[in-house]
Amino acid sequence: MNNEAIGFFDSGVGGLTVVREVLKQLPNERIVYVGDSARAPYGPRPAAQVKQFSWELTQFLLEKNVKMLVIACNTATAVALDEIKEKIDIPVVGVILPGSRAALKATQKNYIGVIGTVGTIKSGAYEKAIHQKSPTTKVTGLACPKFVPIVESNEYQSSVAKKIVAETLRPFKINKPDTMILGCTHYPLLRPIIQQTLGRDVTLIDSGAETVSDVSMLLDYFEISATPDRKDLAHEFYTTSSPKMFEEIANQWLGIGDLQVKHIDLVKQLV
Ligand code: DGL
Repeated sequence: MNNEAIGFFDSGVGGLTVVREVLKQLPNERIVYVGDSARAPYGPRPAAQVKQFSWELTQFLLEKNVKMLVIACNTATAVALDEIKEKIDIPVVGVILPGSRAALKATQKNYIGVIGTVGTIKSGAYEKAIHQKSPTTKVTGLACPKFVPIVESNEYQSSVAKKIVAETLRPFKINKPDTMILGCTHYPLLRPIIQQTLGRDVTLIDSGAETVSDVSMLLDYFEISATPDRKDLAHEFYTTSSPKMFEEIANQWLGIGDLQVKHIDLVKQLV
């Protein structure tokens, strides 16, 4: 048993989609979350910069004494997971392998689509993960750089969002995969619109939500689950930007009444 928190980071509010699933599946666990909204989106940034930011967020969480680290960001997982794993001595979980496994399980036509940030799609991380297990599975990736800004600005339910999603996903109208990985943790907030655009016959895979099974398994494996019936669950949420917008989205998405978000100043140099 270990009652220290699980640490989560993302470029912004996207990782809250993973947290929502943790609150549901692992309600005894305390959460420390940091979103780097001041420097979001990470998607268009060079890999070296995403690595550096990921390391800064990791260090912030290590100072909070977390017992496990969840990289709740596909873009950061794609470029920084291996290095972070090597550098620190607590279990580290990324979001790409769990999403790939779930997609392989779901596909009937052996054809999987992946939507993600420019960084994630360019890295080919999903293709590699899927082909390592199943070389004959067809995988088509599409970068959707306009999606994250819609979510970060809390416009993910607007008519503008509908229009942008429809336009961006047009390439999938021809030769449609039967399974689509939401390869960015921001995208589950757009899920109803994405589902409507692609059609009910496409199974959407929420890579972040799938990750929670790995988190749960590792807690068991390392025997570091929290004690049951905890009454002192003071979750902590931090953002590098203004807490107001973050709080609005977090409250809507997590449904925790009076969630408090604190500002932290990690941003030493904005590039
Ligand atoms: N939510 C992140 C991801 O899963 C990053 C999005 C971004 O900042 O571009 O990739």
